[in-house]
Amino acid sequence: MRAKNPYRTAPGSEPPELAGRGGELGAGRYAIDMSAANEPAKPIVFTGLRGMGKTALLRRVARDARAAGGITIVGEADRTLRFGEVMRRELVEALTTSESLPTRLGTALGRLIDKLPKVSYDMPYEAGSISLAGRDKSEAEDVASRDSLEDVLLVLNEQVCRHGRFLMIGLDEIQDSSANDLLRIIRVVHKTAGTDRPVLFVGAGLPNSSSVLKAVRTYTERWAFLRLELLTRTETYEAVDVPARTLGARWDQDAAEEIYARSHGYPYFLQEFASASWIHHAGKVVTKNDVVAVSAGVQRMLDESVYDRQFAQLSPREVAFALALHSLGAGAHRPEEIAEVLGRSSSAELGSVRVQLLKKDIIHAPARGLAEFRMPLTNDYIDRRMNDFLERAKFAKSKPGAHDPRPVR
Ligand SMILES: Nc1ncnc2c1ncn2[C@@H]1O[C@H](COP(=O)(O)OP(=O)(O)OP(=O)(O)O)[C@@H](O)[C@H]1O
Ligand SMILES: [Mg+2]
Repeated sequence: MRAKNPYRTAPGSEPPELAGRGGELGAGRYAIDMSAANEPAKPIVFTGLRGMGKTALLRRVARDARAAGGITIVGEADRTLRFGEVMRRELVEALTTSESLPTRLGTALGRLIDKLPKVSYDMPYEAGSISLAGRDKSEAEDVASRDSLEDVLLVLNEQVCRHGRFLMIGLDEIQDSSANDLLRIIRVVHKTAGTDRPVLFVGAGLPNSSSVLKAVRTYTERWAFLRLELLTRTETYEAVDVPARTLGARWDQDAAEEIYARSHGYPYFLQEFASASWIHHAGKVVTKNDVVAVSAGVQRMLDESVYDRQFAQLSPREVAFALALHSLGAGAHRPEEIAEVLGRSSSAELGSVRVQLLKKDIIHAPARGLAEFRMPLTNDYIDRRMNDFLERAKFAKSKPGAHDPRPVR
């Protein structure tokens, strides 16, 4: 049998050690405690760039909520969110896995499940396509009822609370929700906050999730948005060492340091480097040699799968824009700053390039007008490919007075 590997490289997988997220987990636990006491908790949204651990955290909070007696409905949004199906799946799961569910709550949930859609192609409508009415033909129009999702959620919440439990709704990839669906869920959370049966909401999404929510309902501005960042050196050590210890092994300090140097504490990358090093190691200790032996291969694989394909699509002008953004350092930057680096008199000239880069998923806009690389550590990637990028950018029409976009290092 293959030796157990304690590292988790699959997207959304919960690592054995959720390092460096004590504050976020604490906020989650506080909200869960309030909900368990029938007090309205401030909705929480975990935001951050790709691979920072939002889904892992959301799943962990949902698990904590279930352990505290909550019934959880956690779904991933898309533009045609079929929340009815998500609910069915999650309620069936609650029925089959929750040992201590009161019989009467089980029966009530079973009845509700019967009303929910089974398969998506039966349900041509969006999230509102849930009927609380029977399934006979005469009531078929109810299926399209605009507010039915809201009704189902309210009924579900009633049932859950009547039996001494509380309801948590989790929504991942908030930035991809359709406005209608989001509005219905927000309304349920807001409505119940004024009652003794408040629904707990925990979301996750890219940094623009707050503006997506705000566009639907401005009062969501007052929700708690917790942005996930790179892990620190110590947190990275924990992320690699704690899982090894559960299997009776450990990491040499300089091996963990090497992981930090390679991954910069980016959860996605650190799991990949740690997993490959683990596979390479022998005995009870993972050494720096293990990390060094696998690193070039892991880095190449990550560059190819995460960045190369996206950057290969860029025109020379888009490459020049990316280089300018790179020269300004990590984080989000204003169009005027980028225009200045490129020697343009006005940022308006760059508008179309920016739109293309947004479309090609190279950058995102954490707030209106701003530009930030969508993937963490893109600046390091560009450093590795600098010669190639400078060559490609040469074909962009140069303007007199343009600065050399190479970073001063
Ligand atoms: N705190 C953490 N410590 C160690 N590893 C983590 C941590 N959080 C997440 N991971 C790992 O990092 C990887 C990415 O996590 P996850 O998929 O949850 O990120 P995400 O922010 O949801 O990404 P995306 O935006 O692409 O959905 C996974 O392999 C996960 O196991
Ligand atoms: Mg995710």
